Amino acid sequence: MNRSGRRKVTVVGAGFVGATAAQRIIEKGLADVVMVDIAEGIPQGKGLDMMESGPVEGFDMTIVGTNGYEATAGSDVVVVTAGIPRKPGMSRDDLLKTNAGIVKAVCEQVAKYSPEAIMIVVSNPLDAMCHVALTASGFPAHRVIGMAGVLDSARMRHFIADAAKVSVKNVQAFVLGGHGDTMVPLMRYATISGIPVDRFLDKATIDAIATRTRNGGIEIVNYLKTGSAYYAPSSSAVEMVDAILNDRKELLPCAVHLSGQYGAKDLFLGVLAKLGKEGVEQIIELELLPEEQANLDKSIAAVKELVTLL
Ligand code: NAI
Ligand code: 2OP
Repeated sequence: MNRSGRRKVTVVGAGFVGATAAQRIIEKGLADVVMVDIAEGIPQGKGLDMMESGPVEGFDMTIVGTNGYEATAGSDVVVVTAGIPRKPGMSRDDLLKTNAGIVKAVCEQVAKYSPEAIMIVVSNPLDAMCHVALTASGFPAHRVIGMAGVLDSARMRHFIADAAKVSVKNVQAFVLGGHGDTMVPLMRYATISGIPVDRFLDKATIDAIATRTRNGGIEIVNYLKTGSAYYAPSSSAVEMVDAILNDRKELLPCAVHLSGQYGAKDLFLGVLAKLGKEGVEQIIELELLPEEQANLDKSIAAVKELVTLL
């Protein structure tokens, strides 16, 4: 919290995802923002540019850009987007070593200046970076949460709405598992206004949506060529910020530290979790069909393998 009594969010990484997330946070009036980046001048310039949009957009939240952590002290939520993004031909896993070093250094500083914060990790490879963040921060597991499931599920919801020609507002759907090719779009639970999606779409279409969801990240990378998605990722991270700051008790798919749920222990994995002012307040464990559990097991194995490479 600020001295003024307003909520304070730090965004580390003033690149595409970080700066867009910061912009959404202040435009929605969720909190004052401190944006940190190692690149000199970039967070300062972007922060000032955003502040100068305030009179036109009509927000009075503040944003400051900085290359250090002093101004981040006492943040309620910290969103970690620092790292290098994925380029064409590069898997999320190729990013592992470089981003692990960056996330470790960042989280040590975050914990020093904001020991009570709730941390939302965005940097890839996501599930492994959550492990790095947990260890480097020393935070309890319920205060370290990875953003991926909201994004992957938003993609899936868009594809369903588009195919069924209905409003996205009517579509509920979520993805479980790691943020990689093995993620598990849980089509059995996808609904349009509470009606199972297979009442609207045939099997071939549903299968194609599941495949497109799994490849949603690389589809954007192949278009952009020099980087990865950031509009939907920043929206997704900010939905989590909102759920936490406003204690919404919102059930969102996100990477949380499991202690036996779905057969995974001491592992970050995408599951449905209730987010509120304490961070992860409940983990929802669904009964899965054998085939769904088998797919999730493959995802668990893929995340485990990555974590062992750290
Ligand atoms: P970007 O390259 O635009 O921004 C990254 C920023 O991090 C740069 O401004 C860079 O200077 C900064 N940075 C590097 N090292 C730093 C350090 N030690 N301290 C502070 N800042 C540092 O990349 P973009 O597109 O914003 O993506 C950021 C990360 O988020 C990438 O790892 C990307 O793969 C990941 N991502 C994850 C998603 C998810 O669903 N979890 C979705 C989209 C992106
Ligand atoms: C995405 O899914 C690259 O993880 C990033 O867009």
